[in-house]
Amino acid sequence: MVMDVSRSERKIDHIHHALGHEREHHNHFDDMDIVHQSLANLDYHSLNIGTEVGELSLSSPLFVNAMTGGGGAKTEEINRDIAIAAKETGIGMAVGSQMSALKNPEERKTYEIVREMNPEGTIFANVGSEANAEQALEAINMLQADALQIHINTLQEMIMPEGDRNFTERLKNIEQIVTKSTVPVIVKEVGYGISKESVSTLRSIGVRYIDVGGRGGTNFSKVENLRREKPLASFNNWGIPTPMSILELSHHFPDIHLIGSGGVRHGLDGVKSLILGAKAFGMAGGLLKVLIDEGKDALVTEIEHIHREVKIAMMLMNARGIPDFRNKAYVLYGRTKEWADQRL
Ligand code: FNR
Repeated sequence: MVMDVSRSERKIDHIHHALGHEREHHNHFDDMDIVHQSLANLDYHSLNIGTEVGELSLSSPLFVNAMTGGGGAKTEEINRDIAIAAKETGIGMAVGSQMSALKNPEERKTYEIVREMNPEGTIFANVGSEANAEQALEAINMLQADALQIHINTLQEMIMPEGDRNFTERLKNIEQIVTKSTVPVIVKEVGYGISKESVSTLRSIGVRYIDVGGRGGTNFSKVENLRREKPLASFNNWGIPTPMSILELSHHFPDIHLIGSGGVRHGLDGVKSLILGAKAFGMAGGLLKVLIDEGKDALVTEIEHIHREVKIAMMLMNARGIPDFRNKAYVLYGRTKEWADQRL
């Protein structure tokens, strides 16, 4: 690997910060109770957890969300292990940002390994909104990806001392990528959520797939503040919590294909996302922590456990398939209810 050691070590530090920082005490999924139903009348063994997200056909609503961009032996090993676990469990996965591999071809292997390990699986490519259409198509080709994620992370960049400061090309880039891409283009946040105002703009330039990437889990304000001499700590709780983001987008934009992610701790948080209007849900930090602390087999066990949770919830809700979760009975409390009262 040609990548210099210090850069590779910085990536690993970043992963440890991302997994180790203190989580918010309150997760807004806890502002929602699913109403228990007593009269299950389905056969557990005939349940189908496949789901359609627009043109994407997934065999599970769960996927591993984007992580570990950049090169280095450790990143490659992590990507390989996630790809093997995703294949064994039949779930999709997104790779981390490919921007550095677009600039440094020797880093491509870190990503290509994912397709090598899982030739038939569902894989999402990932670029930033600074990517032009040509770069985005190259990122898709690198993986023969089934979809492309474009991450937007303004606040993370602003807190990073060396982060981007100029986003004037962003909307033009996204519009051109959507026009030229042959696979679905998903615009995602990285833990700050997406508002109805933002989606109104994204929709007007052709975007139809949104991953809310909401607040509640991995918190990049805290991660990047660790590297600042004078932290911008007032932004540590900035962002739209995931259930609130899903609620307002599904209410205002029923034609948008929604994905719920950010602070999903287990299968039931995932099910809550599906009830609120998401078609699939992503998990990043929580799954990476299992892989790094306990290894690949533990990651497979964790994914199977989440599938079991989803299927038990299907039994309880009498949901024969994932789309049947939509609008099952629930009650909202506290801040999430207040958000719903003012934003729907
Ligand atoms: C991320 N995330 C991320 N997202 C993205 O679009 N491109 C990227 O390169 C990365 N890199 C990355 C590295 C690490 C170590 C973590 C933990 C996360 C963000 C990720 O996809 C997700 O949006 C957030 O982590 C929120 O989800 P969780 O972690 O709360 O499930």
